[in-house]
Amino acid sequence: MIIGIPKEIKKNEFRVASTPSAVSTFVNHGHTVLVEPNAGIGSGFLDMDYEKAGARITLREELYKNCDLLYKVKEIEALEYDLLHENQIVLTYLHSNAHLEMTNELLKRKISGICYEDVDDERGEFPMLAPMSILAGKGGFLAALYFSQSVHGGRGLLLNRITGVSIPEITIIGCGWSGVGAAELAAAFGNKVTMLDINKRAMDSAKDKLPVNVEFLFSNRENLLTCLKRTDVLINCILWPKTRKDHLVSREDLKLMRRGAVIIDVACDDAGAVETCRSTTHDDPAYYEEGILHYAVDNIPSGFAETASQMLSSATLPYALEIANQGLEEAVRRNAHLKRGLTTYRGMLTLKETADKYDIPFVDPLLAINKAQES
Ligand SMILES: NC(=O)c1ccc[n+]([C@@H]2O[C@H](COP(=O)([O-])OP(=O)(O)OC[C@H]3O[C@@H](n4cnc5c(N)ncnc54)[C@H](O)[C@@H]3O)[C@@H](O)[C@H]2O)c1
Repeated sequence: MIIGIPKEIKKNEFRVASTPSAVSTFVNHGHTVLVEPNAGIGSGFLDMDYEKAGARITLREELYKNCDLLYKVKEIEALEYDLLHENQIVLTYLHSNAHLEMTNELLKRKISGICYEDVDDERGEFPMLAPMSILAGKGGFLAALYFSQSVHGGRGLLLNRITGVSIPEITIIGCGWSGVGAAELAAAFGNKVTMLDINKRAMDSAKDKLPVNVEFLFSNRENLLTCLKRTDVLINCILWPKTRKDHLVSREDLKLMRRGAVIIDVACDDAGAVETCRSTTHDDPAYYEEGILHYAVDNIPSGFAETASQMLSSATLPYALEIANQGLEEAVRRNAHLKRGLTTYRGMLTLKETADKYDIPFVDPLLAINKAQES
């Protein structure tokens, strides 16, 4: 198969889908790999590194025209629509339920879109989402460290255990991947860390991974209010249902928080678990509501592009290789987890959640493949 690795064009996106080392794996399996000039530059990988791994550096138009599998990081942008061709496979974070126009373009152009975010594993986890969540949690703590400084709008607090000074308090809601990522750094810096969750199993699993200066509390109104009153930093790491309209932390609750406290919203759901959250960018990451600094950057991992690209490439390589080695149809037939990620196929919408959201007819992935082969 011919695999194309383009340079991402989304603003502030420095990640690349594949490292040179992963490229050599494709080449060793007999595939041809085309890489756009400077595709890896933002992650510290030079064209020369890709060439050494066996890739051909290929201009953008030619790459899109010739590749069977377009292997990316972010969704398809409007500037890319006309470069796609019928029956091309696109493997990336598609987020079709948030991008109706893109989804319609994929359907109209008969592109086979497979998204990273819906492919699960036998434990019901999402192996291509988890690495970025861990990184986002860690980046969230580092943002708290930065924005707690007087020179960056904070009250001048060093989030670290210092002799003779009270230990800062960090509250993390959500004990999943990003919560554990944030807690690892917050605890390693010697802070008093409290984590809240509604799921005992998630708390037990986080407890096994974290040191003893992390306390675990059930996430209920009483425990949350106790934490809000005493915390220096609140980090929201909840996976908030898209349909939920209420909030865990309301605008009114912010008045209970300490002067100069910081809210880091890793989950970044506009008016989600935190009512006053609205997503921000790396260019303009923070804003104040009720005197509380909010940080809600929606692509935190991009700030750590080299690390993120290495983690993402390792997580996605087995799936990309399965598709390249077996062909899309066979790979989807054999792997039920990969099947879950099939979003569009030859003009049919095969992801139920997006179909329901936009009232577009849904076709089961295997049925769609059979239908296309019969016609
Ligand atoms: N900002 C970014 O750049 C970025 C990057 C990656 C992920 N994210 C987002 O971060 C969020 C969390 O991702 P994750 O992979 O850590 O999710 P996860 O599923 O691993 O963990 C979420 C946790 O929230 C808990 N939870 C649910 N409701 C709760 C409640 N009411 N109180 C307390 N805990 C509750 C769940 O039990 C679970 O343990 C997602 O929305 C994800 O999209 C953001």
